[in-house]
Amino acid sequence: MQTRSVARMLRGQPASDGGGVRLNRVLSFQPDIDPFLMLDEFNSANADDYIAGFPSHPHRGFETVTYMLEGRMLHEDHAGNSGLLVGGGAQWMTAGRGIIHSEMPQQEAGGMRGFQLWINLPAAEKMKPAHYRDLAPEEIPTVSAGDARVRVVAGRFEHDGLTTTGPINGISTDPLFLDVNLAAGGRLELPVPAAHTALVYVFVGNATVGDRDLATGHLAITGEGDTIALAAEQMPARMLVLAGRPLREPMVHYGPFVMNTRAEIEQALTDYQSGRLTA
Ligand code: CO
Repeated sequence: MQTRSVARMLRGQPASDGGGVRLNRVLSFQPDIDPFLMLDEFNSANADDYIAGFPSHPHRGFETVTYMLEGRMLHEDHAGNSGLLVGGGAQWMTAGRGIIHSEMPQQEAGGMRGFQLWINLPAAEKMKPAHYRDLAPEEIPTVSAGDARVRVVAGRFEHDGLTTTGPINGISTDPLFLDVNLAAGGRLELPVPAAHTALVYVFVGNATVGDRDLATGHLAITGEGDTIALAAEQMPARMLVLAGRPLREPMVHYGPFVMNTRAEIEQALTDYQSGRLTA
């Protein structure tokens, strides 16, 4: 057993996207964080920051995971599908060949808080049919693990010989997506496959990852090892733990398209402009 140290840390940067939503861009297309592409955090009690939402826009070649902590977001796609995301719920969308959708807040006041993570797809799956799954809060298992309360959105969480499997499985990158609440002074060790990229994003309180202290709003990219050791300081802490199998393929991205070659990006643009993105 080898505990992962922190290889490096990133801090989110203020950004605006969609119709003008103010967000915190924690991660944005860093080649060594394969298969993860982007992580946005949105967190505001001021409707002006989020009300413009994300009007109709395309995606091709990757997956988006929207994890809501607070607020209500309606998504509607080109095929007439729709779903309402609520606090504690999630949506796992595989854009594949193409999806055109909108993601719009369904409130004019109050807090809107959550995350959107982009995960790459292997070349062989970039053009597969679009697919998504909406997860109601009660579909996401919550496990008590000593000092921690862990919500398992995707992958397997092992603790004390018990395995909890999240509702999202069977994805090539074998993603782990956990929301970990640590009590003040609490500790948690969790296994992650040694070959997988693993990240910890602290969004409440301060936490220790391996032997490094992370303040709120910091992302740790972990080094080699098969275990992640987390600890909270004097106050409770909450963090996302993300892990996945790296694809190690060439990656070219342009806006909402993530492909392997420039020619495939040009094809995506042509397809979108001519109405064939999703065909
Ligand atoms: Co989108």
